[in-house]
Amino acid sequence: MNKIPFSTRRNALLAEIGDGIAIIPTAPERVRNRDSHHPYRFDSYFWYLSGFPEPEAVIVLVGGKTPRSLLFCREKNEEREIWEGFRYGPEAAREAFGFDETFAFSAFDEKLPELLANRRSLWHALGHDATWDAKIVAALNTVRAQTRAGKRAPSQIHDLREPLDRMRLLKDEHERAIMRRAAVIASAGHSRAMQRCRPDQFEYELEAELGYEFRKRGAAGHAYSPIVAGGANACILHYVENNKRLDGQTLVLIDAGCELEAYASDITRTFPVNGTFSAVQRDVYEIVLAAQRAAIAAIKPGTPFISYHDAALRVLVRGMVDLKLLNGSIDGLIESEAYKPFYMHRTGHWLGLDVHDAGDYKSGAEGADWITLQPGMALTIEPGLYIRAGAGVPEHLHGIGIRIEDDAFVTSDGCEVYTHAPKTIAEIEDVMRRD
Ligand code: GLY
Ligand code: MN
Ligand code: MN
Repeated sequence: MNKIPFSTRRNALLAEIGDGIAIIPTAPERVRNRDSHHPYRFDSYFWYLSGFPEPEAVIVLVGGKTPRSLLFCREKNEEREIWEGFRYGPEAAREAFGFDETFAFSAFDEKLPELLANRRSLWHALGHDATWDAKIVAALNTVRAQTRAGKRAPSQIHDLREPLDRMRLLKDEHERAIMRRAAVIASAGHSRAMQRCRPDQFEYELEAELGYEFRKRGAAGHAYSPIVAGGANACILHYVENNKRLDGQTLVLIDAGCELEAYASDITRTFPVNGTFSAVQRDVYEIVLAAQRAAIAAIKPGTPFISYHDAALRVLVRGMVDLKLLNGSIDGLIESEAYKPFYMHRTGHWLGLDVHDAGDYKSGAEGADWITLQPGMALTIEPGLYIRAGAGVPEHLHGIGIRIEDDAFVTSDGCEVYTHAPKTIAEIEDVMRRD
């Protein structure tokens, strides 16, 4: 366990909260049915500050002249450890995760009023988890009831997400290293799916190829529900059923990424089920690829977040006119949003611990300005074209859905695309020819 990035982040947050106190709980375990649970996934804010993997844990950061970081976690329990596995327990956790003090999680409710008393401000992600909101409000009321004993509850309550999201938006070197490794695994999964794809397979067979590669290479699994969408299913943006047979005359769109050491990768590739693009598939594919190239070229520090979307959109709309999906001037079609039936999402989002990662997109007092790109930000670049059958849509284009998605870091002079699955028509056809 590398303690350094986590304690560095805790210290950075302590510097933000002045003499306040911050409370950052992890996620609860979730029941799937009866006594079976969903695979446990800790809270991303909690992980960002601790690297501690167990449920029933909470970080408390106590600001002031001698800042302290505390962890409350489950105690050792031989009986439970026989059934469920290893628990650090407070003592080992303090050493392994670099906290100043650690306590039993069971002591938290009683200790919280004491920790809150006479602190000017409280920092918490209110609304993130109702159980924790209620716990904290109860503790505040306990302190308020002790006014005559000279105790004061914090008079200011701040949203902890504000400083934490700002921090999470800029990936440090540890995060970038993990994200690069996640991208290698995710890219290998896409290559494998291309290589193994055969007409008449089911979509879930390709999902299995990706899952195999992710787990085989040590990732936790999928970072989000994968999309394996044959033919017109690709025009359903959140298609996750993945249970239809693949028609050899169509394309298949796969949007899948692995989670490695808590970090997501997010890649989409679209390729012909039979291994060779038809002329019309090629025409549409080259438009989306050109849109992605234009977007990549537009990503530079100092530019507004939306600029790369605008760059991709212009290429896509020109392509829609060339394909006779739309008619008119490019500027007019963008202005009127006539392109929306064929391109209805934005060209990317922040990426990190969450696939749609923390961080604002707009800033300024009125929230009117797009965030300015800065070196260290991580984002996806994912233009697409989705052509459903409909009035005025040329028949030979019906049911073609294409998205190409890669992940990038903003650098000092542009961006570094760090996902490397086969992408050009030549690369895809070449991989698909190999056995
Ligand atoms: N996989 C989710 C997305 O591309 O945004
Ligand atoms: Mn995606
Ligand atoms: Mn994405």
